Amino acid sequence: MFNQLRGTLAPLPADGVAAAHAPFGQSRMLPRLAYVDEAVFAWEQANIFAGWVCLGRAEKFAEAGTQHAVETGAGSALVVRGDDDQLRVFANVCRHRGHELVACGATVKNKHIVCPYHAWTYKLDGSLRVAPGDFRKVEGFDTSEFGLVELNAVNWHGWLFVDPSGEAGSFEEHAAGLEGIVANYRPEDLVTVDTHSYELATNWKTIVENYQECYHCSSIHPELCQVSPPQSGENLAPDGEWMGGWMALMDHAESMSFSGESSGQFIEGLNDMEQRTVMYLVAFPNLLISLHPDYVMTHTLRPISAGRTFVECSWAFPKAVAEREGFDPSYAVDFWDLTNRQDWAACESVQRGLESPHAIPGPLAPEEDGVYQFVSRIARAYAGLGRADDARPSIVTGEATAGATPETETVTETVTEPETATEAGSLT
Ligand code: FES
Ligand SMILES: [Fe+2]
Repeated sequence: MFNQLRGTLAPLPADGVAAAHAPFGQSRMLPRLAYVDEAVFAWEQANIFAGWVCLGRAEKFAEAGTQHAVETGAGSALVVRGDDDQLRVFANVCRHRGHELVACGATVKNKHIVCPYHAWTYKLDGSLRVAPGDFRKVEGFDTSEFGLVELNAVNWHGWLFVDPSGEAGSFEEHAAGLEGIVANYRPEDLVTVDTHSYELATNWKTIVENYQECYHCSSIHPELCQVSPPQSGENLAPDGEWMGGWMALMDHAESMSFSGESSGQFIEGLNDMEQRTVMYLVAFPNLLISLHPDYVMTHTLRPISAGRTFVECSWAFPKAVAEREGFDPSYAVDFWDLTNRQDWAACESVQRGLESPHAIPGPLAPEEDGVYQFVSRIARAYAGLGRADDARPSIVTGEATAGATPETETVTETVTEPETATEAGSLT
């Protein structure tokens, strides 16, 4: 849920913003300053990245005593796995004089949380254990008053989300409609076998926009087009703060790999449609989930500045496959690493183009309805507007080639409320 209703509008020309959420077919891309201006970036940090954001796969923080700090739009957050196996997320700020407890981006392992400045020491549950020095002589000093500030956090199917603002509303509303699409893959039971990190010279929105369309696939992804028809699939009608759609596999392809072959096995319990398609989801604002028949790929985005974004990409497989002797995930990892790099080159080139004062926001093709969903939602946030049904495109492009239709309502002129409800997982 965005926090734009605080009353601050994004520092962008109103006519350019309005053009970006005009009806699909008439709209234009966001004003170029949305991609290159640090003032807009700061607005997005305060209004978008201060609400529900994904911190990555929860399994990264498996061991008790693991402490990892990560930047959010409302100060940095400290993820801690406790002795009781509970995962907690705290504001990464000492209750003494505000020093960061762990440097941003760093991971430490310790049975206590120790502030590097004056060594105030906290238990892993965030309570203050000891304040060194003569505090014992200070009348009325009570350690129970100085525990760390705990943030709202949810472990949803193995992805850790936090609302650092505490004002973003319920996670169930944020992710409404996702549950029925994701649950069958049981991502919480999958095991991550490889992770790649990329630092890109591009704005975070360019990456999401690129992910939301395959209009570019014929131009830059020859390998992908051998296993998945770029015109296949449909986008879904989102109910919460997410968007996405599916694409079919070619008849000969079992999964997304150079040959189309899989070295793994189907995730147990998938239906016929799920075995023949790949579902691409954006859990707003910074998590991209790619659900394959045999593995789940995750991209987590962390904006660094208007023109730089850190991306972590990971691949998770069923436990039985991940633990199989000699299992080689490179069929999936190498395929997507190449595809990622093809995408990154395009995104970085777009960013360089948008640095030009001559860049004028262009129109979207009918095939780019997914981009429209994202861009119009962002534009409405810039303008202080909430979600609107008219943010959903009224044009459906592409025909299914999988010979089946998805069970979730697809985008049509009449939007039907999905029947599935989201249930947030417990934070473990
Ligand atoms: S600021 Fe943390 S101990 Fe002083
Ligand atoms: Fe791509």
